[in-house]
Amino acid sequence: MYKFIIEGGQKLKGEVEISGAKNASLALIPATLLANGEFKLYNTPDLRDITTMSQLMRSIGAKIKLEENTLTVNTKKIKKFEAPYELVKKMRASIYVLGPLLGRYNQAKVSLPGGCAWGPRPVNLHIEGLKKLGANIDLQEGYIIAKTKGLKGADISFDISSVGATGNILMAATLAKGETRIQNAAIEPEITSLAEFLVKMGAKIEGIGTNQLLIQGVDELKPTDFNTIPDRIETGTFLIAAAITKGNIKVVNCIPQHCDALLYKLKEVGCSIEIGENWIKLKGNDIIKPVDVTTAIYPGFPTDMQAQWMALMSIAEGSSVLTETIYYDRFKHVPELIRLGANIDVNENVAVIKGVKKLKGAKVMSTDLRASASLILAGLIAEGKTEVLRVYHLDRGYEKIEKKLQKLGANIKRKYYQEF
Ligand code: UD1
Repeated sequence: MYKFIIEGGQKLKGEVEISGAKNASLALIPATLLANGEFKLYNTPDLRDITTMSQLMRSIGAKIKLEENTLTVNTKKIKKFEAPYELVKKMRASIYVLGPLLGRYNQAKVSLPGGCAWGPRPVNLHIEGLKKLGANIDLQEGYIIAKTKGLKGADISFDISSVGATGNILMAATLAKGETRIQNAAIEPEITSLAEFLVKMGAKIEGIGTNQLLIQGVDELKPTDFNTIPDRIETGTFLIAAAITKGNIKVVNCIPQHCDALLYKLKEVGCSIEIGENWIKLKGNDIIKPVDVTTAIYPGFPTDMQAQWMALMSIAEGSSVLTETIYYDRFKHVPELIRLGANIDVNENVAVIKGVKKLKGAKVMSTDLRASASLILAGLIAEGKTEVLRVYHLDRGYEKIEKKLQKLGANIKRKYYQEF
């Protein structure tokens, strides 16, 4: 296994380029199952989650290769309609093959994802939505077994806005007979980009970017090329890296509008921010003001930035309150931040963070992707040496993170170690 060793105290300076969005790619890749032929997905990030999704696509029968961030997918010989437990347990987004397989091949067998480090994470909305479209769904031995004689358009109204359920129903509905209306659809940029990709393949979708999607089913979709949008969570993580180290960086190849909620909060913290068409400059302030945050669906403050925000607030000049409304249990990073000297109290889904003067280096354990990012951020300002163990979590979602941080002046190294 690998760990990161960080010597804190460097102010980050310079320019960093953002990679393609992991969560956009994880929806685009299974969407290729809806058509027959060869696709090119540009700006695909080279990440462990993309490798896992590629493994799954290969086991289904697709040919797939990633070369210099261009992913070529060939879906001419699809032969198996299954996502096995071994892959789904590694990556929940595997459930994204359910909608396309059912839409195009009228059958799918996908392992139930189960819980994760942040709590139960159900998939009832995916299942109920697909049933509405005419799928017969059984749950057997931990698998969702879905079959249909042909999906038919329907009115679907989600009780909760779900990124994954919107993506799955949207993909399935493109090839269903007739009209599907999705109410309370997710409007996260990754869903908007998925809808744009489907339209480029020949799908008929109205209301893209709004929470009401109207899909007219078509007989066939065609392969196409597509550019993956930049990763807004990677963008946000680097902005916080600059803010926490009181540095001065330019983040390029990003979409600033996708980060509005975070940028607003960073200004309240005292950072100076300049925005261009595809870049953001951030200059940290000597005083980090405490700022409360409540996570929400897009365009609110993303739950995927909550852990990183907590690292920043841990050295603010005063107390702040962080309320998590998407995943109530998403606080696995808290005990690790406390090991570094942070003062955080969690009560149900609310964390109160009392800013401390400084953090101190220690060995800490990654528990999930964004929690690990918060430990790196804390390590960047902690006095002395911080070791972040189990960095495979980070490799799921940050492309070359240590190289990018080193280029900005951080003292961070990757080292192999054996865990007992
Ligand atoms: C996606 C992102 C993840 C992000 C999350 C919220 C991907 C691959 N992952 O996850 O990084 O943190 O959006 O922005 O894009 N829910 C149900 N029933 C369901 C589905 C969801 O109750 O069937 C609930 C969840 O428990 C959660 C909320 O809906 O409270 C939102 O979850 P959802 O948007 O579905 O998250 P994911 O698509 O799994």
